[in-house]
Amino acid sequence: MSNPALAKEIQREVAKRRTFGIISHPDAGKTTLTEKLLLFGGAISMAGTVKSRKASRYAVSDWMAMERERGISVTSSVMKFEYEGFEINLLDTPGHADFSEDTYRVLTAVDSALMVIDSAKGVETQTKKLMDVCRLRDTPIISFINKMDRDGLEPFDLLADIEQNLKIECTPLTWPIGMGKEFRGTYSLVDNKLHLFSADHGGRIQQGIVFDGADDPRLDEYLGRQAQQLRDDIELISGAANPFDKERYLRGEQTPVFFGSAINNFGVQELLDNFIRLAPGPGPRPTTTREVEPTETDFSGVVFKIQANMDPRHRDRIAFMRINSGKFVRGMKVMHHRIGKEIQIKDATIFMAQDRSGVDVAYPGDIIGIHNHGTIKIGDTFTDRESLKFTGIPNFAPEHFRRVRLKDPMKAKQLQKGLLQLAEEGAVQLFRPLTNSDYIMGAVGVLQFEVIVARLKDEYNVDAAYEPVNLHTARWVSAKDTKTLDTFRKNYMGDLAEDAQGELVFLPNSMWRLESTTERCPEITFAKTREHN
Ligand code: G4P
Repeated sequence: MSNPALAKEIQREVAKRRTFGIISHPDAGKTTLTEKLLLFGGAISMAGTVKSRKASRYAVSDWMAMERERGISVTSSVMKFEYEGFEINLLDTPGHADFSEDTYRVLTAVDSALMVIDSAKGVETQTKKLMDVCRLRDTPIISFINKMDRDGLEPFDLLADIEQNLKIECTPLTWPIGMGKEFRGTYSLVDNKLHLFSADHGGRIQQGIVFDGADDPRLDEYLGRQAQQLRDDIELISGAANPFDKERYLRGEQTPVFFGSAINNFGVQELLDNFIRLAPGPGPRPTTTREVEPTETDFSGVVFKIQANMDPRHRDRIAFMRINSGKFVRGMKVMHHRIGKEIQIKDATIFMAQDRSGVDVAYPGDIIGIHNHGTIKIGDTFTDRESLKFTGIPNFAPEHFRRVRLKDPMKAKQLQKGLLQLAEEGAVQLFRPLTNSDYIMGAVGVLQFEVIVARLKDEYNVDAAYEPVNLHTARWVSAKDTKTLDTFRKNYMGDLAEDAQGELVFLPNSMWRLESTTERCPEITFAKTREHN
């Protein structure tokens, strides 16, 4: 049944929403920038509120304790704030390299990303990996080159570095004047405004001084000898840099670049103002049958992350759902498609910067948290009418493997239960070889293994240990017809396993084994990622 008033309301709300994530290498300034964005959004009132999630600086046990102490770290996983009439959902991505698989999945729930680069370091390993993930969905990316108050690489070199290493065209929308001690501010190439930098301006940027282009002689008054450098730079940019092309940005082919210093709150408001203007709102989402438009009045959502409470007394977990169409209303009944059951969502949570609160209504682009007592998995779709299955939430090929060894054989059942449930969260993957009854865990980062052993003990009362196992990577295998796949299964039995969903996986012990097998079996598809189903 059509409901014009509801359709209008949803259209209005969709147009107001911006859902994004920040991608960066640890230490580039993501936490600092997040905090400043929240300050502008009025979501927090004091600097120092957002705790740095520097897992890398702690031992695993500290990290576990930290997570537990905070009760649940989801309060900072999704931060909602308002800015200039826009409803902004900032999804946090754990900084530690070992948790990058989780990060990857979070990125499937955003409509755009903000990439933070340290001006002294340029593109770093984690930036590269995250960029690869963004590319899987052609996510539009805005870049922020941070720490201009320090001596770093030359701005032109930074752009070249991004273009070469990340294979994305750069188009600067602001340009820095000097750096380090000589950093004077930024010049907007969009509206010829100069923003002067001072380390003690108390946060808010000044209005900016408008010039009649870079030739305006007043520029010399403000910048002295650096004015000429700016003019030369601008001339070079107009000759060499690509003009901003919104369509190309939206297709993920071009990134607008901003310069600033997050810690000094410099360039952040400029970034935010441009972000709401340029970044896309919620877009259509693919399902196995059709694309779902956010403005459709029927409700739909997909779970992209599950986080355990880490409270051993109640083993409840929170499932993070991104709303993809329609309107969510507290207490609504929705269909859980994988298990074919209707459930009522009574206690959904919306995450604000500092706390979480019950949610009455939510719209496409918003993230709600629902309690999961083991029936919800990553990738699950919920709708209020049509039977749908959203796609695009991948499992990634693990790069590290361990064989799980049970210390007390009487606990085999518990172990299996624990492993299956923890694998369900998606932090590790579980493989059962076809030729033996081992449990092989695969993870994108090694820290996950320690976390799993500690949680098996804590939450399932199972003492487990790991043994090294000589495996190199994993590839999900498929073929056009079952006969080809059966022959492959027979010939490569010793290298094959099933994952927790029963999908066939090739586990080669070396790069060479993988390459030679792919060459020898051209009719088999070896996939690096697998859709959750
Ligand atoms: P991350 O979340 O990406 O890991 O980075 P985070 O914001 O924690 O920043 C990493 C370090 O860089 C911090 O210093 C932070 O203060 C500093 N930083 C962030 N933005 C800027 C900037 O614009 N200019 C300069 N000069 N430094 C910046 P730290 O000493 O590692 O930590 P802390 O003791 O200050 O918290």
